Amino acid sequence: MSTKLIVAIDGPAAAGKGTLARRLAGALGLPYLDTGLLYRATARRVLDAAGDPADPVAAEAHARALTPDDLERADLRTPAVDQAAASVASLPGVRAALLSFQRQFGQARGAVLDGRDIGTVIFPDARVKLFVTASVAARAERRWKELAGRGIAVSLQSVTDDLEERDAADASRAAAPLRPAADAVILDTTSLGADQAFQRACEIIDAIKKSAGPAPRTR
Ligand code: DC
Repeated sequence: MSTKLIVAIDGPAAAGKGTLARRLAGALGLPYLDTGLLYRATARRVLDAAGDPADPVAAEAHARALTPDDLERADLRTPAVDQAAASVASLPGVRAALLSFQRQFGQARGAVLDGRDIGTVIFPDARVKLFVTASVAARAERRWKELAGRGIAVSLQSVTDDLEERDAADASRAAAPLRPAADAVILDTTSLGADQAFQRACEIIDAIKKSAGPAPRTR
């Protein structure tokens, strides 16, 4: 087992994974990878080429052709990309194409990675696995405020419907479905602010570092 610390953070959309993961990476002095960007950038390339995000051959080719610049694009978080990313993420060839990049990223110096299958598929031996979740209502409100802050005017209902649709797609797909790893600690952020979630995660990580095995499951 690698001695480099891997912190795997999985969970549904808008549960607060990204904010938490970035902060943990800073506190732990580790590189951070938002793995959702890989699927978003693949989807963006497919859409730009007027391709079909459900076409496995085209989507896999775009996943294999990703460049670091693709991940820096400012237009990866639009509702159209949300949908297309969920579609390309369900394709086994796309997931296989993105696997080694994620493993190499983590193996170099250790890392904090967030996504849907980090603790189950990408780093099943990760020392720290957090499954960050929250109620649909709490997640929808957060995503709606975030979109409004970026000048994207959509109704709370449509954000809720979209999240429920993506939750169902992420959880029911055959390839790497969203589920907590058996040894993940569940962190429910429904009633936690970002600071409280960070503090709780730090406590969990400290407990794991001190113990011989993974920390007990909590809610
Ligand atoms: O976390 P996000 O919303 O940026 O992710 C975009 C899409 O990619 C979403 O449909 C889930 C999917 N995804 C995935 O299947 N596996 C990952 N490790 C990360 C994201």
